[in-house]
Amino acid sequence: MRNWIVAGNWKMHNTTGESIALAQAIKEGTKDIKNGEVIIAPPFTSLFSVGAAIKGTQVSLAAQNMHHEDKGAFTGEIAPGMLKDVGCTYVIIGHSERRKYFHESDEDVNLKVKKALAVGLKPILCVGETEDERVKGVTQSIIDTQIKKALSGVENIDNVVIAYEPVWAIGTGKVATSAQAEEVHHFIRGILKELYGAVSKDIRILYGGSVTKDNISELIGMENIDGALVGGASLKPDAFLGIINQITGKK
Ligand code: PGA
Repeated sequence: MRNWIVAGNWKMHNTTGESIALAQAIKEGTKDIKNGEVIIAPPFTSLFSVGAAIKGTQVSLAAQNMHHEDKGAFTGEIAPGMLKDVGCTYVIIGHSERRKYFHESDEDVNLKVKKALAVGLKPILCVGETEDERVKGVTQSIIDTQIKKALSGVENIDNVVIAYEPVWAIGTGKVATSAQAEEVHHFIRGILKELYGAVSKDIRILYGGSVTKDNISELIGMENIDGALVGGASLKPDAFLGIINQITGKK
């Protein structure tokens, strides 16, 4: 049985004070959760304070990105060890906004996934097709390439979480139907089975893209959807906790 995950990606939102207040509300509201994991990914500037605020609770800390080198002359970048130092256990890698606005390639994503695993951070690897690619009918080949390139040279995927995030559904209010999402999740599990055999059934695959408390219950009802990576709806305690409450008891 796979434990569910709800991860909140705060993107470029929240000052330190706002971050601590939101983290505290989430901590309070998730005290009694069972068989699931709640993860929050504040901006870099809030990681330290949020890490301190949620220390010892059931809420885990994630970063939204990292560099693949341990240290060096990379102005403006953050090293994996720095993330561990402030209490991160997860790191989001290859988010479509990183790929689109910061030109991250599948090769960059692969370097980051390998480095995260090497230092003991769990990567939340994001993949997803654009609207154009879906219309052209190449969704599966895009996903296949993204996953295989990202995991190239990765021997053990026990600590990897995959997030399927169709680019056309992110921040648009256009959520994938549960059937559309399940089709891709099932396809991803097939790729993992081909690459890693039996362990593939234990790997969590999250859906992301316009998830709210009103659409999560149908998505979470699908066999291969193990949780959600949430953007907009992770910024308000009620909206985020509402999603978690919908999942509790369903998985
Ligand atoms: P959204 O973002 O929930 O605002 O669509 C999801 C994400 O980018 O992870």
